[in-house]
Formats: sequence, C-alpha cells, structure tokens
Amino acid sequence: MKIAILSQGSRIHSTRRLREAALAAGHTVRTMDPLKFAIRVERGAPSLHYRTREVRGIEAVIPRIGASITFFGAAVVRQFEQMGVFCVNSSQGIVVSRDKLRAIQVLSRHDIGIPSTAFVREGTSLLPTIRSMGGAPVIIKLLQGTQGVGVILAETESVAEAIIETLHSTRQNVLIQRFVQESRGKDIRAFVVGGRVVAAMRRMAKGNEFRSNVHRGGDVAPIDLDPAYERTAIRAAQIIGLHVAGVDMLEGCDGPLVMEVNSSPGLEGIERATQTNVAGAIIEFLERQVRLPEIDLRQRLTIAGGYGVAEIPIGPGSPMAGLSLLDAGLRELDITVLSILRENHAIPNPQPACQILRGDILICFGKLEAMKRLMPLPRPRRRTAREADRTSDNQAVPRDTTDRDL
Ligand SMILES: Nc1ncnc2c1ncn2[C@@H]1O[C@H](COP(=O)(O)OP(=O)(O)O)[C@@H](O)[C@H]1O
Ligand SMILES: [Mg+2]
Repeated sequence: MKIAILSQGSRIHSTRRLREAALAAGHTVRTMDPLKFAIRVERGAPSLHYRTREVRGIEAVIPRIGASITFFGAAVVRQFEQMGVFCVNSSQGIVVSRDKLRAIQVLSRHDIGIPSTAFVREGTSLLPTIRSMGGAPVIIKLLQGTQGVGVILAETESVAEAIIETLHSTRQNVLIQRFVQESRGKDIRAFVVGGRVVAAMRRMAKGNEFRSNVHRGGDVAPIDLDPAYERTAIRAAQIIGLHVAGVDMLEGCDGPLVMEVNSSPGLEGIERATQTNVAGAIIEFLERQVRLPEIDLRQRLTIAGGYGVAEIPIGPGSPMAGLSLLDAGLRELDITVLSILRENHAIPNPQPACQILRGDILICFGKLEAMKRLMPLPRPRRRTAREADRTSDNQAVPRDTTDRDL
C-alpha cells in the first residue's frame, strides 16, 4: 500500500516511528509536508499537487498536522477526503479537536465526564460565572493552546479576573474551567486507535507545577486503565470523530473528566512508558480500514427529497416503549433504525425483534414527516410568577402558545 504521512518533519520522533512501522509491514511510505501542497478545486475533479507534481496513487493518509498549521493542514486532509482517499483522522475531527471550547461543547451533550467549563466575553459576567463554578482557584485556557502553554491556574477571583480581562484586551478567547483539585498535577492519557485503547499512561507534573504535560517536564508511568476510563476515552474519540486520538482525562472524585482529545498525539512518551508498539497498531488499523474511507452522511442521505436522519428519544410516555422494532411499525412508516443508543452503549443495526426501552435514543433514516410525528413534544416549563403575571395582564396571549414557546 502507498501511504502518505502528512508531517512537517521526517525527523520528528512520531513521524519516524510511523514510517518505520509502515515499512516494517511492507508498505511504501512518503512523508509529505502539508504546507507544500497546492489544492486544486475543480468541478467534479478535486486534486492535489505536491511541489510541482500531481499527487496520484496514494491509498491512505496519516495526518500529523501541527497546531500552528491547522487551517491549511486540515484543508489538505479535506482534499484527500474529496478524492476518496482514506485518512486515518478526518479533517472535521482534527478541526474540532483543535478548539478546546468546540470540543468540550460537542462532548457536553453526551454522557461523558468533563470539568465544568464556561466561555464569556462580557466583563460583568466574569465574577458571577467564576462563583457559579465554585469560585477560585480556577483554570483559564486559551482555546488553541498545546503542550501546556496557555493554561493558567488563577488562585484568586481577582487574579482570574485580571488575567481574563488582559487576555480579552488582546483579543484572545479564553475559557474558564473548574480546577480539578483532586487531580492536581496528574492526569491520564489514553491512546485510542480504531475504537480501542492500545496504551495508557499516567502523567505526573514536576514539583509545584500543576500541568502534567510531558513538554512541561512531566513524568510518565504505564497504568492498567480502569474500565470507566477506557469507555470514556473510546467514546470521546468517537464523538469528536477521530480514529487515532490521545484522550487526556483528569481523575475526578466521581471518575474520568475529559479535558482534551488530541488528533496528533505524540508517540514517544506513550511508547516509552508502556513499551507498546503504538505506531504498529496505527498501521494495522489503517490496513483494516483502508477500503472504507469516511463519507459525509449529510451530503449523501438528504439528496432524495423528504428523507433524512433523525434521533428519536423514547420518553416515559412513548407508545413505542416496550415494543419490538417490528411491532412498533417503523418499517411501514418508511423508517429504518440504524442504531439504538442505550445508556453507555450502542446497538448497531438492531434486528426487528429488538425491544425498544424507555430512555433509548433511536438513530433513524427515513421520511422526515413520519419521523417528525414520532418526536416527543417539548415539555412545558413551569412558568415563573413573573411570567404568569405578564400573561394575566395580557389575556390576548393564548395560554397554550405561551407554554409551547417556552
Ligand atoms: N481543569 C483542570 N484542573 C486541573 N488540572 C488541569 C485542568 N485543565 C488542565 N489541567 C492541567 O494542565 C495540563 C494542560 O491542559 P490541557 O487542557 O490538556 O492543555 P494542552 O493542550 O496545553 O495540553 C493538563 O495536562 C493538566 O495537567
Ligand atoms: Mg493536553
């Protein structure tokens, strides 16, 4: 197989290791600098040129896009995707993982532990926000930092406020995060490849340092990963859309708290600490997956008018709860259930006899009109005394509309 490693330096340790592993498995490898590509966008014929020559024959791409070139690097990966070439990590996954706010926002709607985090612009909201998170000390983070640079621990509210205001005045976007004291100076890095944790280590900061990054002098030690941490790491990588990911988790009192999902995790620390051939695992995954390049469902599934994908939650009052897929009559409504999300796992391609349970989420493809009718109505929120007053002042507002709007 002809593999391209997108990396700015063939001497970088991780790049070298991936190259070695690919060669050892009998593949042809080329290390290509993402910045030396020219992207050609033509109707029906996306192509790439590298230096002066058109790129041809590459069957798989391993992106190792540095944080300083995310925009152009991700555009090159996206172009390979348009050309139907399998990329170990998708351009979308890379872009999401590079923005700490975006990544944590995406994770937050799923049942995954995350440190409580806030993003504010308005100076007057700063103190109330910090207090609502339990007060100082708090962590302040630049959205695009790496290797511990741009992560600050503010010991008091006034220091936090001063730092955030200074950063805002230089047009930097920052997020505020609860300082997870119980995990001070240590965290866990789980290395996920193709839906499996292939290696895991604990990172411990030096001396008084609270950041455990290897680049900040942190020490590493192999660990047997607790199943809750393993599940969380796999799920976080999958939600962000990465086949290869370094998932960083703090050890909170109630279990794992995902801080970050890295799309180009370094191999040196993890391979040294765990004596595992992580590069080899990436190449093996690539061999298994290469015939299945990523496709964007939104581009393909909504072409036929009136059809699309929807998730249907099974609430307590759902008439489908307790029935099998067959008895629920979804096929007759022209709806196919692709997967059922149940607690912490998914049931892919469920059989007709599979029972629907309360609390399930059905991921469906089908007629939008029919799926809309199966959606639960928004639950009316109880009105506050002030809202009730306002309505009674203005009898022209029909009661059920006010409730619905909420
Ligand atoms: N909310 C937090 N509570 C405690 N420690 C944290 C928190 N956020 C980050 N850290 C520490 O700082 C380090 C760097 O933070 P991280 O968000 O991973 O940024 P980077 O991308 O620079 O690695 C982490 O490895 C961890 O040791
Ligand atoms: Mg990190």
